[in-house]
Amino acid sequence: MITDLIMGTEYTLDLSAVKIPTHVAIIMDGNGRWAQARGLPRQAGHRAGAENLRRVINACVDFNIKILTIYAFSTENWSRPKREVRALMRIFARVLNQEIGNLHQQGVCIHHLGELTGVEPNIQKKVRDALELTRLNDRLILNVAFNYGGRAEILHAVRQMLADGVKPDDLDEELFSSYLFTHGLPDPDLVIRTSGEQRISNFLIWQAAYAEFYPTPVLWPDFDKFALYDALVAYTDRDRRFGRVSTED
Ligand code: FPP
Repeated sequence: MITDLIMGTEYTLDLSAVKIPTHVAIIMDGNGRWAQARGLPRQAGHRAGAENLRRVINACVDFNIKILTIYAFSTENWSRPKREVRALMRIFARVLNQEIGNLHQQGVCIHHLGELTGVEPNIQKKVRDALELTRLNDRLILNVAFNYGGRAEILHAVRQMLADGVKPDDLDEELFSSYLFTHGLPDPDLVIRTSGEQRISNFLIWQAAYAEFYPTPVLWPDFDKFALYDALVAYTDRDRRFGRVSTED
């Protein structure tokens, strides 16, 4: 049971009533619309999104979710207006500066999914420092997909395999997975996309092959602990068959 006091009212979330997925992945969408709805610039939405990220990480720790993967910046996001890209980089750098100590104390181990080439050197350094500082933590693995694209990840893996001289006959799904940025981690069980869109948008396209997809109309800055709990309730009701027939049939 988790109890929370919101504006004087006590809410209880019954964790024994839900199945807790090991690995949750989130496409954090809707920051721009959240800001627009309030007459604010898009950057204000990204700032609110970054604040919400802290709350969702806390909720994952409370819910005993072991792996959280977030889509922070895609290889396609570079094509946004320069001003917005600059704002996103500033927010990312600030999150790394301000949150890393707390995350480390909470036992969060940060992994990076994506490539750092092409990213500002000072952000590259902050990312590397964060990985190094938190590498031995084991309460929650936080995969930050930053400058990440699923297709780029697959190409990166193929290039590495060719460079390593992997023989066609030796190639199987396990070996291929070991060349992905998520190597060593189980595939996501649940992929959540906020803001009502129902696309995968080049996110974990190999790893999410059998993930349960949960689209929600809630915009990312408003996606709180209760919204996450609703996603867990929906996940609990899903019958995961992995291409087989139901276990109840
Ligand atoms: C999508 O909203 C969100 C992003 C492109 C970036 C996600 C970024 C954050 C949550 C804040 C920064 C945190 C880190 C770790 C970088 P959108 O702009 O596509 O929203 P819209 O579809 O309503 O326009």
